[in-house]
Amino acid sequence: MADKSGANMAKWLWIGVIAVAVGLATWMMTPSPTNDARPLIGGPFSLINQDGERVTEKDFRGRYMLIYFGYTYCPDVCPVDLQNMSVALDLLDPGVLDRVQPVFVTIDPERDTVEVVRKYVSLFHPKLLGLTGSEAEIAEAAKAYRVYRRKVDSEAEGEYLMDHSAIMFLMDPDGNYLAHFSSGFAPQAMAARLAELVK
Ligand code: NI
Repeated sequence: MADKSGANMAKWLWIGVIAVAVGLATWMMTPSPTNDARPLIGGPFSLINQDGERVTEKDFRGRYMLIYFGYTYCPDVCPVDLQNMSVALDLLDPGVLDRVQPVFVTIDPERDTVEVVRKYVSLFHPKLLGLTGSEAEIAEAAKAYRVYRRKVDSEAEGEYLMDHSAIMFLMDPDGNYLAHFSSGFAPQAMAARLAELVK
């Protein structure tokens, strides 16, 4: 009896193993959605850079755009992410760095004028471009990159904060989504990933 139930158990174990293997093989052979349809990140925008010039997404073709949406009054997340990005950029080989264009886009155009953005980006990396625009232009760019943003009243009279998603996107030279870095990424990890992806 003991032998028979042992054999039965072995049989069921094998069936289990085979089922898992078949499932795994099927899953691995199923094309990942990113192969067929790229994530819907990115798209046209028309904004003003820190020198007051109008730029569109087409101006970044041929380079790897590292794009981040935030705001200069951000007390915590934005400065940390931009600082980490700057450290990552400085870890890159000059040949790789040459191909990467870091871009900061404000989600708070009301306060982030050209002048404010210019001063802000200069605090981080010499290559960092800063973009602002009208509320409608910023709304369109944020929508293209699926950026969430919401005004939140702060305790100080007449002041506000912006609640926002903080993800850095790497776009390829054709303007297609390539990778992203979630807030809190380590500079070394970002540099390694960029060295891997940037051709
Ligand atoms: Ni922020």
